[in-house]
Parts: sequence; structure tokens; C-alpha cells
Amino acid sequence: MEFISKCTADTISNAAQALIDGHLVAFPTETVYGLGADAANEKAVSRIYSVKGRPLGHPLIVHISSINKVDQWATDIPDYAIKLAREFWPGPMTLILPRTDLAKDFITGGQNNVGIRVPAQPIALALLKKFEVLGGQGIAAPSANRFGAVSPTTAEAVGEELGVYLDSEDLVLDGGQCLVGIESTIINCTGLEPIVLRPGAITEEMIDKVLDKKAENTEDASDIRAPGLLESHYAPKAEISLNSVAEPGEGFLAFSKFQTPIGAIRLASPSTLEQYARDLYMALRSADQQGLKKIAVLVPEGPGLAEAIRDRLTKAATR
Ligand code: TXA
Ligand code: MG
Repeated sequence: MEFISKCTADTISNAAQALIDGHLVAFPTETVYGLGADAANEKAVSRIYSVKGRPLGHPLIVHISSINKVDQWATDIPDYAIKLAREFWPGPMTLILPRTDLAKDFITGGQNNVGIRVPAQPIALALLKKFEVLGGQGIAAPSANRFGAVSPTTAEAVGEELGVYLDSEDLVLDGGQCLVGIESTIINCTGLEPIVLRPGAITEEMIDKVLDKKAENTEDASDIRAPGLLESHYAPKAEISLNSVAEPGEGFLAFSKFQTPIGAIRLASPSTLEQYARDLYMALRSADQQGLKKIAVLVPEGPGLAEAIRDRLTKAATR
């Protein structure tokens, strides 16, 4: 595996060619780092599963450079989904849509729908555009971590997660720390109404506003599968306990307004929800690096991004 620390037109062009040649390229997005492969190349996509240690059959998100390319992968797109895409792409939102023939079973896990996203990150967009110029149609990219582990928000974290599993010709593009820090909002757009499957930085409130109606975060009646929806996920090795007091020697994560309990090890001091989301996975990772056994977390309250943070923390705390 090669780290590319300076992403220039040349290195991005080489990375796009590496994807065309069937190699894997980890790249930054505004949410978390993705482990990319040519979404039309079955062999390359199968390597994503082995490198991640992800059970086969779990669907992958296809990343494209613009809303104009969505028709290649999706069909019968409902009007509300077009509205959402126009408003929030490029951005931290994945739409689950009825698939075209291009979206093979090895991408969709055998389902008749496909997850699509246009990321809002300059390196990711440059890579996608170059890849498309070279004849590629989309980049499949799950978060660049081992299955069930914490998503990486820096290139170093990608190296720690996947370094030993990647081949010498695979690449990791370094774009610094991800701005959002938690994975995209996933919205099921295969029914009459949108249904949020995974909360994220595009919040229910933002969706409601664009659609002039209530987007429901109710039980999804369809049989859509998604491993991010498993109860245990995004988990560090340290045990996480929610809204408990940190004992001496334990990790502590809370808004900056809360004082560090005596003897506890402060992992992050965010002062806004945005900072909380951005620093969350770094904080969990740092607890493991310091060999901490337990992390006490004061969970943010309220709607919006707080809901997405609670979703990740609850899953990280579940064993
Ligand atoms: O922010 C993100 O979404 C990041 C960046 C790299 O784009 N990607 C990401 O991918 O989080 P992943 O695979 O780690 O999580 C995507 C989740 C998985 O739980 C997957 O099963 C679900 O989305 N998913 C993907 N396609 C789906 C589909 N067609 N139907 C239902 N769930 C789907
Ligand atoms: Mg993931």
C-alpha cells in the first residue's frame, strides 16, 4: 500500500488509473474515509470484502461525481428523491434507489435497489471525475475500516485499520481530517415516502424542510438490509458506558462545558455538535491507542446532528 500525502492532479490521475486497473484506493470524503473500488468490476469489489473482513452480501454505496450520473445506476427515481439530491448533493447523504442493470448483485447484495452518493470533498470529487473520464462509472466505497470497527476519519487511521490487508499497488489518499466525521445519512427512497435508515449530518429537520412534509424515522417496512443497522457497530476495543461518571484511569468524552472527573483521561472537548461529530471517532480511536479499558461518554441531547451522534454511540456501546 502506498500513502499519497500530496494529492495533485497527477497523483489523483494515477489513483483513478489504479481503480480502472482493479486496485483499491482509500480516499477522503467529507464524512469518513472510504475504501474505493471500481463499482463495475466484480473482482475489485470482492477485494473490498476480504480487506474489510466484511461478510459477503452486504450492499455497498456507489459514489458518483454529480447528480447527472445518477441515471446510470438508478431508475424510477421518485420526485422527492430528486428534490433531496438537488438540495443536498454533493453532500453527506446516500439515497437508496431502484437499480439499473449496471448495479449488479455484487454491489447491491442481491437487492433490487442501490445506494448512491455524491460526496462533497475536493479530492473525492477530483478522483471521481478523473475516474469517469477514464471510462469508469462509479466508485463503490464502504468506510475504510475492518468490519464492525470505528470508521477512519484520517489517512493514518486507514493505515492502522487496513494497512496489513492492502496490496502493494493499493493506494491511500491523504486529505487530512474529515470535516463531518460520521457517516452519511442513508435515506430509503424506494417507497412512496423517504425513510431515514441511518441518521447523519443531513437531518430529519433538513429533509422535512425541503419536502414540506414529515420524513418519518419509523420502522422500515421493506426488507432492506444494512450492516450499519446492526445493533453493534462502530465499536472500539474499550467498553463504552453512556452517561456514567468516569472513574480514575477511564476515558472521558463530553462537551467542553463538562469538567474532567478527577483522574479520568479526557479524549475530546468539543464545544459544538459539529465538533462533537468530527472528533468522535478520533476520540474512540485514541482510547484504544492509550490502552484504556473503559470510556465514559456524556451523550449530546436533542434533535438533528445529536441524534446521529447518539445513534453511533449507542451502537458502539452495544456488545
Ligand atoms: O458516509 C458514508 O456513507 C461512507 C463514505 C465512504 O461514503 N460510506 C459508508 O459505507 O459508510 P458503509 O458500507 O460503511 O456503510 C453503508 C451502509 C451499510 O450499512 C450498507 O449495508 C448500507 O449502507 N447500504 C448500502 N447500500 C444499500 C442498499 N442498497 N440498501 C440498503 N442498505 C444499503
Ligand atoms: Mg461502515
